[in-house]
Amino acid sequence: MNCNIAVIKGDGIGPEVVTEAMKVLDAVGKKFGHTFNYEQLLMGGCSIDKYGDPLTDETVAIAKSKDAVLLGSIGGNTQTSPWYKLPPNKRPEAGLLKIRKELGLFANLRPAYLYPELKEACPLKESVAERGFDMMIMRELTGGLYFGERYTKEIDGVMTAVDTLTYNENEIRRIAVKGFDIAMKRRKKVTLVDKANVLDSSRLWRKVTEEVAKDYPEVEYETMLVDNAAMQLVKDPAQFDVMLTENMFGDILSDEASMITGSIGMLSSASLNETKFGLYEPSGGSAPDIAGQNIANPIATILSAAMMLRYTFDLDKEADAIENAVKKVLEEGYRTIDIAKPGEPQVKCDEMGSLIAERI
Ligand code: IPM
Ligand code: MG
Repeated sequence: MNCNIAVIKGDGIGPEVVTEAMKVLDAVGKKFGHTFNYEQLLMGGCSIDKYGDPLTDETVAIAKSKDAVLLGSIGGNTQTSPWYKLPPNKRPEAGLLKIRKELGLFANLRPAYLYPELKEACPLKESVAERGFDMMIMRELTGGLYFGERYTKEIDGVMTAVDTLTYNENEIRRIAVKGFDIAMKRRKKVTLVDKANVLDSSRLWRKVTEEVAKDYPEVEYETMLVDNAAMQLVKDPAQFDVMLTENMFGDILSDEASMITGSIGMLSSASLNETKFGLYEPSGGSAPDIAGQNIANPIATILSAAMMLRYTFDLDKEADAIENAVKKVLEEGYRTIDIAKPGEPQVKCDEMGSLIAERI
């Protein structure tokens, strides 16, 4: 198969971790007879430096012409980087929001799985970690507060900031359908996370999701308030299969879920539209504090490449090969600094990539 991929390495640790994911993809190509054609594009701070714009329209057009996008991370230190002196719509994050919107990537899949080998890296009580967990956070990605009208202005002499949270029933239905479809391939349970005791938007989410649930009689469906969900994630994460939720709740809960897997460096993600096109990126950020030191964990990005093979190219066997290779290096005891126990030997970012590539 010939796979055309836009590669956006981005800022911070992005270039380091994406290079390792490409190394692993190339190993897959060699073993299974596929060709991965990469075109490297700029987004985020590096694009600001070159074009004065975090994402140019030309870059969007090239990305659209590919089968998939493999992304590292964007952004820098918000306290010290000159990028954050720019107006908000010219900062690195604006590029990320723009590419999600322009490519219609409304469904963000963030799997959180506790590898048995990493139980000790899990910050939860041993009795909770012992039971393990395997959930899929389905975050709506192109609506809600992140895309609503916003402004800051003086009203009656008082500075006032406004952000608006809007969802229509179609935006809710299409992600709910995806959530239930994915649940059918997993343990057949969907938890809708919302704030329906306060927000109108959440009440619409409940109404629409309940309608969708009727088409999936085999799937157990429940609702949970977001504050309770935040507690349940640390108390009993094993109860969750598919967690379906709106944009901001998903942003927050997916970071929480990643932390209980041991490290945010383990959490992959896929952002999908109605077609096979997808953007694949680690859930973690650009980690400017450790950038350029070759100590970042590339596993989240490597697992994101596996998701790309599975969801965009329907290459399940090849995706399994990557996931098994990751399991293998962990079983064999290789750890990057973020998941190593005190005193345990550590491998660098590029070594971890090579170890996984060798096990394909
Ligand atoms: C994420 C990130 C982004 C988001 C930021 C960088 C805009 O936190 O992908 O979770 O909030 O969506
Ligand atoms: Mg986030």
